[in-house]
Amino acid sequence: MTTYRVTIANRENATFEVEARRPLLESLRAQGVDLPYGCKYGGCITCAAKLTAGTVNQRRQVALNNRQINAGYVILCVARPMSDITLEIGVDSHGELYRNPFLDPLEPHELKASPHQEPDDGP
Ligand code: FES
Repeated sequence: MTTYRVTIANRENATFEVEARRPLLESLRAQGVDLPYGCKYGGCITCAAKLTAGTVNQRRQVALNNRQINAGYVILCVARPMSDITLEIGVDSHGELYRNPFLDPLEPHELKASPHQEPDDGP
């Protein structure tokens, strides 16, 4: 069984040993970390946290756009660690998560990439 170390930077650098195959939300909650969550399938963004070091596999998430991913956000209910990682958790990690789309619209490269997107044929 492969395990990795998770450090939670904004919880006094508390560390936890987690299984590589298990979603981070599940592993951390099982060890007493109080984390918000909703859908548990990667769709609602409630469980977002900020990854500041290391890598995760979160290909099953559908909640984040490219801007949020590039800012370091991960969806803990589906993300699995691929190395030792450092996270910031909870609402105090959400400073760059939300942005008013009317005041500051996303650029095309910041939108969610779609593997099934067809070329625009125009009107
Ligand atoms: S709980 Fe909904 S995206 Fe993780």
